[in-house]
Amino acid sequence: MPPKPPARPDRVSLWRYLKLFRQDILSAQPQRLYRAWMAEFRTPFFRSYMCNDPDLVDLVLRQRPDDFPKSNRVGEGLRPLLGNSVFVTNGEVWKRQRRIIDPAFEGGRLRDTFPAMWDAAVAAVDRLAPLASGDPVEIEAQTSHAAADVIFRTLFSIPIEHQVAGEVFQVFREYQRTQPVLNLGAFLPLPGWMPRFHRRRTKQTAKVIRKLITQLTAERMQAIDAGSAPDDLATKIMTTADPVTGDRFDTEEMVDQVAIFFLAGHETSASALAWSLYLLAMYPEWQDRVAAEAAQEIDPKKAYFSTLSKLRITRDVFREALRLYPPVPMMVRQASCPEHFRDRDVPKGSQIVLSPWHLHRHERLWDRPDDFDPARFATENGKACLRSAYMPFSAGQRVCTGAGFAMAEGPIILAMLLRAYRFELVPDRPAMPVAHLTVRGKDGIWLKLTPR
Ligand code: HEM
Repeated sequence: MPPKPPARPDRVSLWRYLKLFRQDILSAQPQRLYRAWMAEFRTPFFRSYMCNDPDLVDLVLRQRPDDFPKSNRVGEGLRPLLGNSVFVTNGEVWKRQRRIIDPAFEGGRLRDTFPAMWDAAVAAVDRLAPLASGDPVEIEAQTSHAAADVIFRTLFSIPIEHQVAGEVFQVFREYQRTQPVLNLGAFLPLPGWMPRFHRRRTKQTAKVIRKLITQLTAERMQAIDAGSAPDDLATKIMTTADPVTGDRFDTEEMVDQVAIFFLAGHETSASALAWSLYLLAMYPEWQDRVAAEAAQEIDPKKAYFSTLSKLRITRDVFREALRLYPPVPMMVRQASCPEHFRDRDVPKGSQIVLSPWHLHRHERLWDRPDDFDPARFATENGKACLRSAYMPFSAGQRVCTGAGFAMAEGPIILAMLLRAYRFELVPDRPAMPVAHLTVRGKDGIWLKLTPR
């Protein structure tokens, strides 16, 4: 079976919960959450409610999203890096930012972005060639590299080998080491007024990253003014005026957005790709099917956007990996008024936790929830769950801006890698998921690869 963290005992003290939490939010949760529609966590300072009932999730994310703004605690650990980015803002500021950003990620635009994704996939295949000797390789580091390359190529038309891009990537790795758990601030039962201290090293690395991104953004602003800017995502976003106010992003506000595109866009895709490869190594018959599809549908000499729609098996494998290992395992919202959920009063200010991790493995919703079966999406149960119990990119107005982008980049990179290499497990290094910034392997994800 695909690896799943062991659940904690049903009842533990708050102190023990905190300790477990510090280690990993996934294994800090009890088994019953895989069957519950709703669960309440009472702490001395606030209450939090996990909602696994698809109707409640729909209410919070789709029907009344403005009544459930993003909890301030979410951006907590990331504030030094993300500033006032679209990931952490709420209300009118957030709406304005999305009006400017969204057009750059629309379906039609994806076609223009695709060649840069393709180039990154070709580069990822080349980069792995010296490692395809059958020795164990930590594959998350490789997929991170590939996903960061995609972001720089699509956003700024530069490859990861570009000096500034490479530096951002390196410093970011250090940042991750100082800032290990994204959601900790959001879930920890500390009162909102208690100041959170960012470690000095976290602040320093965030500053370096922002300085490098500022350099890229300021140069781009000049190129736009000079009429010499390439037609990529950065130019599109920086030249788009808000249809309501007529404003554009200034350099500072664009730096906040670039920081989140880099963070949200590469950590998540890297995690999804690494788990996809791990699952394919566990299930060689599926691996062979993806490789055969890639061999048949991909013309290695040229990028055709139409190839994407032909990679059906690859897409279902990637989807199934996103179900079992949703890169963003939980999301937090705040109730801005008193609510009544499933016969329970939910006081104003409560934290509402939505958990793709639990929803995707819910025992009362999915058939064989912990099995890897990409063919499930063709079944009645799979189709129904896809509509109501599947949200790797969240849902509603605050859905991931990069969802379409990720569903293009993931399958094409996966197919290109499988076309070139065979992936196998390393028997003494099994992977175990743990929630860091995203769902990662506890000690990395190790695989052996050989040329096909
Ligand atoms: C497999 C890849 C990805 C996954 C699973 C993923 C997942 C998510 C999720 C679950 C959220 C909502 C978080 C919340 O509400 O708390 C989100 C938001 C976001 N994502 Fe993604 N994402 C992925 C790739 C990308 C890419 C490639 C980009 C950009 C290039 C991106 C940009 C964003 C942004 C800007 C937001 C904030 C949206 C808002 O709050 O309005 N993501 N993503």
